[in-house]
Amino acid sequence: MYNFISWFLESHFMMRKLCFLILIFVWLNLVNSSVDGCTITKGYAVHMLTSITYDNVMVHCKSKDDDLGVHILNFTTLEYSWTFCENWLESTLYSCHFWRASSIDEQTFQVFNRTMAKTCYQGFHDANTCHWGIKQDGFYLFDNYARVWAKQYDWNHGRKSSQKPINEFALVYP
Ligand SMILES: *[C@@H]1O[C@H](CO)[C@@H](O)[C@H](O)[C@H]1NC(C)=O
Ligand SMILES: *[C@@H]1O[C@H](CO)[C@@H](O)[C@H](O)[C@H]1NC(C)=O
Repeated sequence: MYNFISWFLESHFMMRKLCFLILIFVWLNLVNSSVDGCTITKGYAVHMLTSITYDNVMVHCKSKDDDLGVHILNFTTLEYSWTFCENWLESTLYSCHFWRASSIDEQTFQVFNRTMAKTCYQGFHDANTCHWGIKQDGFYLFDNYARVWAKQYDWNHGRKSSQKPINEFALVYP
């Protein structure tokens, strides 16, 4: 009898714990998926805008398991963006390689990483956006707090004369 009571109490307690966990999980899912489709982890967007309208700027972004392909920014396509859910380990990292059509300028850097996540996080699951600005003199990041564009990188005046961009992602992937 005693065994049965303790078993009952224990399983009852376990059930309550389980129900509680399930409830939390469902709640987190609802909160998250209602706005950005991410489960538990945060959702982000990387957005880029060019002010170089008289030339084609090629952009090739990728993460460890997501190759976004080459995109062209120019007068007709000033913007490029994508959204994603941060992984469980919060180690999501996107690097982009940029190169110009009419010059040998290029650059490669991380447009999203752990540091950026902090910078781009705005406290809303659907509005965490990293805004990058591509200009003639370099690359700018919009500071959400100071509301200013802050320059992060110059163009690398380094591409060889061949059409093919060099050292793609060599700078960022360990
Ligand atoms: C501008 O970019 C688009 C792709 O985004 C491309 O189809 C188009 O040819 C480009 N325009 C010029 C003038 O190169
Ligand atoms: C993350 O990205 C930013 C912006 O490109 C860069 O300044 C920073 O060094 C990167 N962090 C790491 C750990 O590489």
